This record gives sequence, structure tokens and C-alpha cells, in this order.
Amino acid sequence: MNLKHELESRISAALTAAGAPAGSPALVAPAAKVEFGDYQANGVMAAAKKLKTKPRDLAEKVIANLDLSDLAETVEIAGPGFINITFKSDWLSQQLATAAEDERLAIAKAAPPQRVVIDYSSPNLAKEMHVGHLRSTIIGDALARTLEFLGHDVQRQNHVGDWGTQFGMLCAYLDELTEVRESKDAERVTVAKLPDLEEFYRKAKERFDTDEAFANKSRDFVVRLQSGDDAVLHTRFQFLAISLSHCQEVYDRLGATLTPDDVCGESFYNDDLPKVVADLDAKGLLKESEGAQCVFLDAFKNKDDDIQPFIVQKSDGGYLYATTDLAAIRHRIGTLGGDRLIYVVGSEQNFHFQQLFAVARAAEFAPKNVSLEYVPFGMMLGKGRKRFRTREGGTIKLMDLLDEAVKRAGELVAEKNPSLPETERDDIARAVGIGAVKYADLSQNRTSDYVFSWDKMLSLEGNTAPYMQYAYARVRSIFRKGRLSDDVTGRIALTEPAERVLAVRLLQLSETLDAVAADCLPNILCSYLFDLAGAFMSFYETCPVLKADEPTRTSRLMLSDLTARTIRRGLALLGIETVERM
Ligand code: ARG
Repeated sequence: MNLKHELESRISAALTAAGAPAGSPALVAPAAKVEFGDYQANGVMAAAKKLKTKPRDLAEKVIANLDLSDLAETVEIAGPGFINITFKSDWLSQQLATAAEDERLAIAKAAPPQRVVIDYSSPNLAKEMHVGHLRSTIIGDALARTLEFLGHDVQRQNHVGDWGTQFGMLCAYLDELTEVRESKDAERVTVAKLPDLEEFYRKAKERFDTDEAFANKSRDFVVRLQSGDDAVLHTRFQFLAISLSHCQEVYDRLGATLTPDDVCGESFYNDDLPKVVADLDAKGLLKESEGAQCVFLDAFKNKDDDIQPFIVQKSDGGYLYATTDLAAIRHRIGTLGGDRLIYVVGSEQNFHFQQLFAVARAAEFAPKNVSLEYVPFGMMLGKGRKRFRTREGGTIKLMDLLDEAVKRAGELVAEKNPSLPETERDDIARAVGIGAVKYADLSQNRTSDYVFSWDKMLSLEGNTAPYMQYAYARVRSIFRKGRLSDDVTGRIALTEPAERVLAVRLLQLSETLDAVAADCLPNILCSYLFDLAGAFMSFYETCPVLKADEPTRTSRLMLSDLTARTIRRGLALLGIETVERM
């Protein structure tokens, strides 16, 4: 049960019954201080102001209209008109028992589920994937996993950049590698011969800039690509396969759930682009400006009152990123059946998405009941908030970055626990290293830029992956020490204050996941897990577990087990593995 929603709906109904305008929010939140109980409702003051009555009088009336007797021990008015709620311990125990019995920890599935189309990662295949795409992959994957767990029908879309003039140059260059032309098994050879894409791009560009004949050949290739020349299309296909396989390696190393089936690149929409433009025209939305076909909407006036156009076709007839995105919206709604379209793309594309959504609405490509959501994120910065670069100033390869994370995590684990067998240590290093990179990203509010720091992300203290993974391993060690199997069954009794605090935290998983899903903010889940681990540590310090007498011992073991399972589930939804010891 989502505790917050349950209280919110019951108390706001009581507010209305007490005379407040219908829909007045109860503004329920976890209690700011333990003395206030478990939850508090803050909405009475605002409602009283509207009614021009004393808040405390209104609060009295609300309580008279409120029946929380099934779950609350006390419902009290405090201060100017807060309502404080303290749950019955028995009721909490019952809720925990329900969670303990359920593999899903009693998290209900959304009814009805939504069809959610989530666009993430989406690198440009003409370049090596960079840290911006890493952030998109990490954040998007956590959101996809969470929405899926909540019962939604999630369709991932990797909107890769696989079209455009730069492919003419790249195909021309690939074509020049004699191995490709002469080999029968061309694809295999080229993959083997291009371990370093970055260098391939650089060399192609260098040739283009210095060799007139090659530049001409590249231009010729662009024309042939656009006219659908089989040979050049084949070369392009080979090149894309190589570039995509590099991306897939990163996804696999990261443990991202993206597969080749999720790739639906820009070129997929080529055939629909003339139709998109014609349909905009039919709606009366097109205007020519300097030879280009544009949509002008009043909403896009800049400071000088000039409207920034949304260009859908260039004067030479070529289509743009914007046109493709309009076609993609139609596909995602019309063919994929999306109710909710999510785009996890860096905040520098903010204006593009504002325009895109407005034009899609104006053209009725997206009906009102479909939600269009831009989920931006800030930049990943290096030391001193500078651009994220290698020491030599080059761009950092994502694979190298992930390898280094695993290497550093291996050193950390070896230092902490030298007696671990090597194979187990490698597994732990992978889980901790990759987990650290992901958690460091996910635990920040995604809208801010974030500074990449090995020391911070691999620290065992603070809101980090190693801290969370260690907290999990520590709970599990209780079971190892006690030589217990995982399925302890019995009654959970909450007598100590630390047990109650832990119990309420455990039951807040539901409202946490709902909040993550509503606002696409995985950091809410990270904060929750961090607080949960803290609540467990306090419990463990004050309440003996294995040394307690029965039935307390079983009750505390059950609380411990539920904590471990909640942490494991939470981390899994973030795409982070847990380990049994570290
Ligand atoms: N390929 C683009 C880039 O790297 C991101 C694409 C995002 N998705 C979209 N539907 N526009 O900047």
C-alpha cells in the first residue's frame, strides 16, 4: 500500500467533508520529526485561509470527519493546525507480514498499465558514444526497469543517429579499406579491423579535409546514399553494424537492458518524412522562410519578439532531426500504442523538445491524452567542473572508463577483504565498480550537472553504491552467522523505537517508486535506500538480533530479511547488482 496516497485521499476527503473546497489537498508527508508521529498533514492551514476560519477549528472538524481507526494509534492536532498521525504497531506488523510473503514486496501493479515508450541512450553512430549518452543510458535504464516493475508495458527505443551527410564520408572511407572490398566475409573482417572507431572517424575527417579526390568521393557517396544505391547502402549497413556492436558492448558491460531489438534509428523514418511535411501543410502550419519549410508558433517568441522557427525541410529539400522526431512521435503513438512518451536526452536539447511537443500538439500528431515528457539531465563534468576529458585532453572512451571503475573497485575489495577467493573478488569488483558509476549518476538530481569523482563514488561512506552494497552484504552476513536459511517465518512484533522507524521506512518503498515513476527521478529511490540503510544500522546497533530470545529473534530476523530484500530490489531497479559479501 502507498501509505502517503492512502492518507492523502482519506484526509482530503475529510477536509472536503469539513467544508473545505472540493479537491483541497491534505498535503501529507512523512513526519518532519519523530515526536510528531509517522506522517503529518499540512493542508489544513491553506484550506482554512480560503474558508477564512481558524486553522485549528478546521482541523477539529477534519478529525471529526476522519476515520483512521484501522491503521492509526493517534491522530492529533499540533501547532497552528498540523494533523499528526501515528500508526498502530500491530497494523505496521501486518503490512510488513504481507510484504514479507510477497516476492514483489507487496508493491501493486499499475491498473490499468500504461504503454510507456522510452527513448534513451540514442547515440550518433557517426561518432563514438560519449558521456552524455552514458548518462542517458544509465538514467533511462533505471526508469525503464522501475516502470516495468510497476506493471507498465514499457517499450525501449534507441533512437540512434544513423542518417546524414557524415555517413557519406564514413562509407567512402570504409570503402577504401581494401580488406573490406576483397573479403568475402566482409562484415566480420571490418569489425575485426576497426577496434578503434574514434581513430576511424578522425582519419576519415582528415582525409576529407586534405584530399580533394576523397572529398569528392564522399559527396558522391552522399548522393548515392540518398538515391538508394545498393552498393553504398551495403557499405553503410556494414559501418552501422560495427558502430552498433561497439554500443552494445558498452550496454552489456554496463548491464543495461537495451538490446539490438530496441534500436530504431533515424533512418527508419525516412519514408514518412515527406508525409510529415505534407500533413503539417494540410493543417496550415507550414510557412516558407528563406527557402526552408518551417512551423512558426507564437509560443516560441524570443526576447526581441521574433519567433524561432521549427525547421522541417531545408531549401535543398533535405529533412532534419526535427522532421524525424515528428515522424517518431506518430510512430510511437500510432504504431507502438504509446500512452506516455519519455525522452531521456541532455538538457542542451531543451528547446528542441519544447518546440517538438508544441508542434506535435498543434498538428494533432499527439492527442491530449498522450503524455509527452522530456526528461533532461545535466552534463557530466571532470575535475574542477571542467569538461570531462582524459589527462591528455582527449575524449574518454566509455569502455576504458568502465574498465577502470572495475579495476579500482577490485583494489578496494582486495584491501577490505584480502581473504576472498579471486573469482569471487572479480565478480564483486564488477558489481561494485559498475554499480558505483551508475549510482553516482543516479543519486544526483538529474537536472544538475554532476562532477565525476572516483574517490567519491567508490567511498564506503555516504550515499554511494559501495555503501549500499555493503549495507546489503552486512544484513546477509547475519544470516550466514546464524547459519539460517532465508525463509524465516513468524510474527513481526515492533517494540523498540528503532524497530518502528525501520518498519515505517520499509513500508515507504511503494510511495517512493510511485514518485520515481511520476517525475522520472531515480535519485528519489537512491535517497530512500540510503535512509533505509541508515534506519537498519540504527536498529542493528540498538537491537540484538541473533542473541535475542524468541520470539523477538525471529521477528528481528524477519525485519532484517525484509530490509535486505528491499535494498536488493531497489538496487536492481536502478540496474545495480548486490553481492552476498564484500
Ligand atoms: N542522437 C541524438 C544525440 O546524440 C539524441 C537523440 C535523442 N532522441 C530523440 N528522439 N531526439 O544528440
